[in-house]
Amino acid sequence: MSDNNIYPIYDQMMSREDKEQLLNQRGMMVWFTGLSGSGKSTVAMSVERELHKRGILCRILDGDNIRSGINNNLGFSQEDRMENIRRIAEVGKLFVQTGIVTLACFVSPTEDIREMARQIVGEQDFKEVYVSTPIEECERRDVKGLYARARKGEVKNFTGISAPFEEPKNPTLSIDTSKLSLEESTMKVLEMISSVNTL
Ligand code: ADX
Repeated sequence: MSDNNIYPIYDQMMSREDKEQLLNQRGMMVWFTGLSGSGKSTVAMSVERELHKRGILCRILDGDNIRSGINNNLGFSQEDRMENIRRIAEVGKLFVQTGIVTLACFVSPTEDIREMARQIVGEQDFKEVYVSTPIEECERRDVKGLYARARKGEVKNFTGISAPFEEPKNPTLSIDTSKLSLEESTMKVLEMISSVNTL
């Protein structure tokens, strides 16, 4: 074989389809949006466990692994939130293109921000899950004590208190974790995922 024949083969990255065949699954982005404390990561972690049991490879992206690492230079101004989500969407897209079911859990509080994420990831791979738990319930839970601090003015630009949250107009799915059990919420997300991946 001449060099001319070798290079066109070996200088090409393997395709998304190759990866999806290897994993026997379809990559997709499940984008959870909602207030702090609404239950985004809790539901995503439960979904991940169920998918894992069924042989589906997942990756969760959330504040714990993103804002503490790649995005640890960003705060909560509008600009920083935009940049936060831009990087997450770009990184998430790489996972999706590797055939991985990617679960992103971010407040992503405005239509603009979520639209940017959708455009970056690609409409066809993007499913939006609005975790619509009312603010009263999120504040009652106050898992991290941030609502109390925001009320006292100690945390500025806090979503739902001193910064806006725009409700998604047309999410693929809405889940209110004050009304549904974790099992019920998990089942709804799994059902949505089953439109793309056989479970
Ligand atoms: S986003 O608006 O840029 O999408 P992201 O989901 O990454 O936000 O981070 C939100 C998490 O950061 C909240 O769940 C909360 O724990 C913490 N946080 C700290 N300060 C703020 C703030 N001012 N507004 C919202 N969340 C905050």
